[in-house]
Amino acid sequence: MNSELFSDDLSTLDVDLLAFTVQGYADSWSDALQKMDQALDGLLTTVATEEEFEGKPETSVVLHTHGRVAASRIALVGVGEASTPLTSVRNHAASASALADRLRLKSVCVVLAGGGEDSRTLRFALEGAALGIYRFNAHRTRDVKEASVERIVLALETESGLRSVSAETLEHAQTLAKASSEAIALARDLVNEGPRTATPQRLADVARQIAEEEGLECIVHEIEAIQERKMELLLAVNAGSDLDARLIHLTYRPENVTPDTPALAFVGKGLTFDAGGYNIKPTGAIDDMKIDMAGGAVVLGAMKAISVFAPDCVVHGIVPSTENLINGSAMKLGDIYTGQNGKTVEIRNTDAEGRLILADGLCYANEQGIDEVFTLATLTGACVVALGPYTAGIFSNKDAMRDSVLSAAERVGEDAWPLPLNKKMKRMLKSDVADLKNVGERWGGAITAALFLEEFVDETDWTHIDLAGPSYLSTSVESHISKGGTGWGVLTLLEYAADRSS
Ligand code: BES
Ligand code: ZN
Ligand code: ZN
Repeated sequence: MNSELFSDDLSTLDVDLLAFTVQGYADSWSDALQKMDQALDGLLTTVATEEEFEGKPETSVVLHTHGRVAASRIALVGVGEASTPLTSVRNHAASASALADRLRLKSVCVVLAGGGEDSRTLRFALEGAALGIYRFNAHRTRDVKEASVERIVLALETESGLRSVSAETLEHAQTLAKASSEAIALARDLVNEGPRTATPQRLADVARQIAEEEGLECIVHEIEAIQERKMELLLAVNAGSDLDARLIHLTYRPENVTPDTPALAFVGKGLTFDAGGYNIKPTGAIDDMKIDMAGGAVVLGAMKAISVFAPDCVVHGIVPSTENLINGSAMKLGDIYTGQNGKTVEIRNTDAEGRLILADGLCYANEQGIDEVFTLATLTGACVVALGPYTAGIFSNKDAMRDSVLSAAERVGEDAWPLPLNKKMKRMLKSDVADLKNVGERWGGAITAALFLEEFVDETDWTHIDLAGPSYLSTSVESHISKGGTGWGVLTLLEYAADRSS
């Protein structure tokens, strides 16, 4: 998609659709919109009144200009109350590009509130324009509609008119937006794909391709290597599957690494289908369990864009990947396995498998000489009960790191909320026969899952992100976030890494 910035007289701009985002009645319209209304002799206010258009989200009014201005159509796109002004441009641009796409148009200009940081406003707007027309068509054979929009024009409105920025600023925003929106699309695609094709091997192939395209290092540990490393917890989950597990490891190294260069690791749960094992999930709970590799998909997405964001820190992307199924060799209740760090775990629920594969993933990350480690996982239904479908739960053994992660998430507009690693609940993980058991008690399941993971973290600072809610939506409520896989977390990880290096 081509993009440009326009800062001249809007009535001279030749596009298929000129979209104004609107938050209320005509008396609250922006200067640029009022000016356009005047150029059309009040046609816009008349139509808005006739259509009872109040600027509510998901509503729009489109009219043909019949040559009275250069644009062939004008749209008023309702966006409702803005949440945070900077990140809302993403949603607004997405509403406009989605509308142009619905109308099967090729070029669209979106007029946005253009205050705030130049480069960020532009980047977020361009991300939104791209994500607003995201769709997953890989398995459709009928009525496949490719996105129609080829050209996006941004106009940034301030109190003193439309703003221009330096060519450098625009180019920087375009580069970042292209990388981040493609990274999010990759994470969404992988989550949407389904377990028949999104297998551990497929995730490994995608990682290899990312490494090749982006100049990263890539090691895929196949089953023999996993056995040699005695990753019994990953192997225990894998035992019930006909497909061999993989441990995927991508590494980004900035130029001129010194001993002081910080090193981060993102460890993502790559569980390509979670049937629950012998604690099998019932209908309703099992239906969407293709999404259980969303943590891994987000790590792969972030690694796809990392060399463009180019943080000054080493970043490891680690994805332990397997299915959780049933066969004659599958793990059983009462089985005891030893994690790579020597701790023994009694299996008390085969459906609490994510923490098992992440435990071995964490032990592997510990060997990489890292300063900070993240775990990202669709880990517990309990986290969705606690925070709802849009917000990820954030746990950390270091307050400062947790605050930086929350702040990074807020800056990029991904909803996140802190949850406590309550030490009193550690007793719930005590086993009669081993060092640990893999489940706690009924209440606080997201917390006991996080406390289990903490047992496998070394001296490093660690943040755990439970994204069981926001990684997959059954209803889209914002134009830039599609139904299905969302890619929640890609932006937060990239933002955190960039921030960590500065
Ligand atoms: N993959 C699930 C968690 C999940 C639930 C993800 C809903 C996305 C949506 C995880 O492996 C799981 O089954 N967790 C159990 C833990 C329990 C057995 C302690 C859960 O949440 O019920
Ligand atoms: Zn499970
Ligand atoms: Zn799971």
